[in-house]
Amino acid sequence: AKERTLSIIKPDATRRNLTGAINAKIEGAGLRIIAQKRVKWKKKDAETFYKVHKERPFYKDLVKFMTSGPIVIQVLEGEKAVAKYRDVMGATNPANANKGTIRKEFAESIEANSVHGSDSADNAKKEIKLCFKAAEIVG
Ligand code: CMP
Repeated sequence: AKERTLSIIKPDATRRNLTGAINAKIEGAGLRIIAQKRVKWKKKDAETFYKVHKERPFYKDLVKFMTSGPIVIQVLEGEKAVAKYRDVMGATNPANANKGTIRKEFAESIEANSVHGSDSADNAKKEIKLCFKAAEIVG
């Protein structure tokens, strides 16, 4: 079924001018970018978005990284968009990512891994609601 997922192009990727290359991979896979904005997160924004990871050892560094430069937040729509985008992104750790995926081609490390994508349809709904007003999403 048609579904939506939240995508974030992370600071390591915007810094290296990879927004267009990443969007080409997204659109090439048949996903539609139905909302997109470039923003710079404050500490509080990153802490709120990643609060499920609060107890993890990488949380503090992650918040620092995600506020280190501009990010591009997107809503992607398509058939099985959550799973499809996870395929397009590749494994969290680029060392384990398949050939042709965004993370295999572009990621610098397990932290600076170029993109985020929702891990379930349920979390996608929550993340989209947190990041976008309804009027900013044009399907
Ligand atoms: P993301 O899919 O955005 O979800 C959590 C983020 O934490 C992850 O991508 C990485 O950017 C970062 N991270 C850093 N270290 C780890 C780790 N050991 N395991 C998972 N995520 C990590």
